[in-house]
Amino acid sequence: MRLLLISGSLRRDSHNSALLRAAAETLPPGWEPVLYEGLADLPHYSEDVDGDDAPASVAELREAIGAADAILVATPEYNASIPGVLKNAIDWASRPFPDNSFRGKPAAVIGASTGLFGAVWAQAEVRKVLAHIGARVIDGELPVGTADEAFDDDGSLSDPEQLERLRDLVGELTAAGSPQAVAA
Ligand code: FNR
Repeated sequence: MRLLLISGSLRRDSHNSALLRAAAETLPPGWEPVLYEGLADLPHYSEDVDGDDAPASVAELREAIGAADAILVATPEYNASIPGVLKNAIDWASRPFPDNSFRGKPAAVIGASTGLFGAVWAQAEVRKVLAHIGARVIDGELPVGTADEAFDDDGSLSDPEQLERLRDLVGELTAAGSPQAVAA
């Protein structure tokens, strides 16, 4: 079983990418983490280049989502909303509509920011967009604020309560992506 991890940040030392690595450590047996690394390769969305001639980077994104049993997105918050690069990726993944690769996939959203509120607005907006395109979005969120102090040197979350929330959310997401849940 595959959990696709999508970080909404291109930054080398991204806290959101770190949060996804911490999430991967909480995966139950039988699940493997697959980190999506193509965000920077996607062109700006245009219907003129979508379709049969869409760039290879777009096909790779759609295939990665299609091959996943569940998807975990970690989003930064830029100016109270979703970073453009992440929204652009979701827009590519949303086509063709309605039979896009996200449709019916269990998905959850977490987020980290250096401010106090842990990207809650961006998380809510990503959840809204994913639900709109047909993903089965888990309600829970994980806001990691003051993110430059939130991780230990080994990359784990310092706050045991946050780590527990992360484990719970990953548990709920993987349960939703398990064959029993999908068949139900
Ligand atoms: C930010 N940041 C930010 N933080 C926040 O909590 N609310 C916000 O609205 C914004 N807005 C914002 C806009 C832009 C353009 C930048 C570059 C940054 C700060 C942001 O949380 C911080 O840079 C995080 O470290 C970004 O996540 P990564 O790259 O560490 O994953």
